[in-house]
Amino acid sequence: MRVREWDPKTASADEIESLVATLNEVLATDLPDDPPWRPDAIAPYLTETMQGERRVCWLIEPSGEGTELEIPGRTLGHANLLLVGDIGGGEVRDHPAARHRGLGRALVGCVARRAYSEGLSSLGVEAVGGTPAVGFWESLGFRCAYIEMRNILDLSRVDWPAVARMAAAVPAGYRVEYHPGGLPPALLEPYAAAKAVRRETDSSDLELRPSSYDAKRLAESLDTLNRRGMRPYLVLAVHEQSATVAALTEVVTPAQHPTRADQYDTIVVPAHQGLGLERVIKARMLLELRRAAPELTEVQTWNALENDPIGEVNRELGYRADRQWREYETDVLDLIDRLGPASTA
Ligand SMILES: CC(C)(COP(=O)(O)OP(=O)(O)OC[C@H]1O[C@@H](n2cnc3c(N)ncnc32)[C@H](O)[C@@H]1OP(=O)(O)O)[C@@H](O)C(=O)NCCC(=O)NCCS
Repeated sequence: MRVREWDPKTASADEIESLVATLNEVLATDLPDDPPWRPDAIAPYLTETMQGERRVCWLIEPSGEGTELEIPGRTLGHANLLLVGDIGGGEVRDHPAARHRGLGRALVGCVARRAYSEGLSSLGVEAVGGTPAVGFWESLGFRCAYIEMRNILDLSRVDWPAVARMAAAVPAGYRVEYHPGGLPPALLEPYAAAKAVRRETDSSDLELRPSSYDAKRLAESLDTLNRRGMRPYLVLAVHEQSATVAALTEVVTPAQHPTRADQYDTIVVPAHQGLGLERVIKARMLLELRRAAPELTEVQTWNALENDPIGEVNRELGYRADRQWREYETDVLDLIDRLGPASTA
């Protein structure tokens, strides 16, 4: 078996297809209700990043020697590392038929060594509740930083007349706007200001989240999403008197699995809370998505486990709790220590 660094930008169609076939068999085994990925969208998804960030990828292939494991048309394992300042975000996936042979550990070794040589101090990974990833990361000494609940809305079960009523209940003095794909330049400042308020009031670690707090970074973030094949849809409530953004909600439809969208930030600026704006903008978003993305069948969102892990408005809209989403982290040097001499070979 051989681990090799791999650049999706210059990859052959066969390599891409083998990787996506493996990722889909991983999904079918670990998360059978998740939609499969499409091969045409994975290269930009893995290569496009924000300025100053980079993603390094690895593949495990048979070396062609002896009787070692080979699964025709399938990549045996894949890992990637997103470099963001001095923090790394790692992902490791092995084909279900190639597990418990040390491939996962070998890939973590590559990730850890690169993280070290790039000067990263810590490494974060996520593990979905009920999958082998939880035991795997814990066996490598990663500590759980926080746990969220993934909630899913099945659009075929939505009460659309009720959603239309919710969307129409716009409080006096506000205007609701819908912006598919990005924002008009004049809205970048006020929108980023609303996101900055969230940063001041939110103490959880959102370092690796696609949130943007100044107009330039926000514009770049929206552009990066589009380049990665992840189309953003934005709905916001403008407070007319102050011309500020009082509330916003963001949903992204990924080209690699266009039937399931991801809910990103929803923010109601504290001065505008208590007026039902969250309900109004989320309901309007669903109405817009229904028109703009007819292939969409589900929306997924993540909520903190404390208090109400679904959220009152999401429950009203019909979201149901799905699985835990566990964020793990470790110091890079400690990880290299724990992996032992094999990881530095
Ligand atoms: C997690 C994963 C990478 C482990 O890969 P692997 O090749 O089996 O890992 P290794 O063989 O290197 O395992 C090393 C050690 O990790 C631990 N480990 C691995 N899988 C484990 C599990 N299911 N439970 C507990 N510990 C586990 C064990 O200590 C194991 O040693 P062992 O095989 O002697 O018991 C693999 O199962 C995988 O790709 N899972 C899916 C990942 C995922 O995120 N899926 C959902 C999103 S698509």
